[in-house]
Amino acid sequence: MSVDIIVGAQWGDEGKGKIVDLLSKDIDIVARYQGGANAGHTVVFDDKKFILHLIPSGILHESTVCVIGNGVVIDPVALMEEIDMLKSKGIDIEGRLFISHCAHLIMPYHKMLDQAKESNEAELKIGTTGRGIGPAYVDKFSRSGVRIVDLLDRQTLADKLQRNIKQKNEILKKIYQKDELDTDKIIEEYLAFDRLVDPYITDTSRYLNQAIAAGKNIICEGAQGTLLDVDFGTYPFVTSSNPISGGAAIGLGIGPTKFDRVIGVVKAYTTRVGEGPFPTEFDQTTSNQIRSLGDEFGATTGRPRRCGWFDAVLANYSAQINGIDSWALTKLDVLDTLEEIKVCVAYELDGKRHTSFPASLQKMQAAQPLYETFPGWQAQTSGIKNFAALPENARKYINAIEQLTNTPVSILSVGSSRDATIFKS
Ligand code: GDP
Ligand code: IMO
Ligand code: MG
Repeated sequence: MSVDIIVGAQWGDEGKGKIVDLLSKDIDIVARYQGGANAGHTVVFDDKKFILHLIPSGILHESTVCVIGNGVVIDPVALMEEIDMLKSKGIDIEGRLFISHCAHLIMPYHKMLDQAKESNEAELKIGTTGRGIGPAYVDKFSRSGVRIVDLLDRQTLADKLQRNIKQKNEILKKIYQKDELDTDKIIEEYLAFDRLVDPYITDTSRYLNQAIAAGKNIICEGAQGTLLDVDFGTYPFVTSSNPISGGAAIGLGIGPTKFDRVIGVVKAYTTRVGEGPFPTEFDQTTSNQIRSLGDEFGATTGRPRRCGWFDAVLANYSAQINGIDSWALTKLDVLDTLEEIKVCVAYELDGKRHTSFPASLQKMQAAQPLYETFPGWQAQTSGIKNFAALPENARKYINAIEQLTNTPVSILSVGSSRDATIFKS
């Protein structure tokens, strides 16, 4: 029996989808604990590519059950599109997808508000995915959100939506000069969604706790990454949930004593999408080079990802916040052609060397990376199946990351497909 958490250790897009899919082969249940359709998790095998937004990355193994936990915010349109996409590709999900009755729903006004805020000159631009994530979590915490369980009773849903839409229409009209929403139309749309989604809804916390008691193997899948965490990330340039490992307990309703291991997924370099500080960001030329080598374009929005060197200060912080037992180090192959590779080992701030991660945004923006330089290996790593067969300089680079972060690497990824993986004990 094991209950493991797989968490993004940087700013998202570390390759969580690949690693969760890979490790799901002999796993009974994969459970997603936060975020929404802002996530884009890519799984590649047998020349097939799947991008998952809401459904856990274990769904491609036919004997694995997938759970969308209470901590996730669900966009009905995105969910139904994803279910249809899987069905059209011959993936049978019946009887092996469960959705929490406590999960909150993304409403049309959440997406409108997210996009209106982002394009309003007077407001801080975060560079969100525009999927309504922030406004949906705001409503959850202000106790006006609509949960899946509310769909069961037409009157409860109508009452909640009438209250919410009246208020949102004021904001949309007066602050953002947008058209008002039609309450009756939204009620009918969400009742229609209820009929489609009904077979999947259950008390997922109870289901997971019973599975734990029965000795099942479970993977808890995080979305986004530690530096996008609303408490521990580069606030305010973050998402509106807790992607860190601690989020799994809350987002699934599993007690902290039940978890066994935490695996941190970390790229061999760093990327970020959207606005916000990024101390090791490359200059334009190197950014373009790595973006094209690593195909660094957002899986959800298609936006070019910003790229930079591996940041050991950030990775150390992440290891600490998440209690990471080992790394899954991805995209090593993207560095194959480089002559030399840098790793940020400390920040210089106000003329002093710092190895701890600054909480203040101003300090984070002012932090100058101090680098250690490693010789590149300039050889192809993608076909290699064991650690000893890697070029010596690649092994040295990996060992340096282990030492600098005080955390061992257990999995190495050298390509997007399942088989481009090295298990390092
Ligand atoms: P996630 O959000 O953490 O699941 O990551 P994404 O799927 O958004 O982005 C990771 C991208 O890198 C995807 O296109 C993956 O197919 C790809 N990928 C994952 N691991 C590797 C790897 O080791 N090497 C290469 N070249 N690509 C990888
Ligand atoms: P996965 O799970 C990378 C970023 C957005 C923006 C900020 C807030 O694929 O790793 P939001 O729409 O969440 O309010 O946007 O967070 N962001 C991601 N960046 N990967 C993701 O997910 C992301 N989900 C959100 O770009 O900067
Ligand atoms: Mg992604």
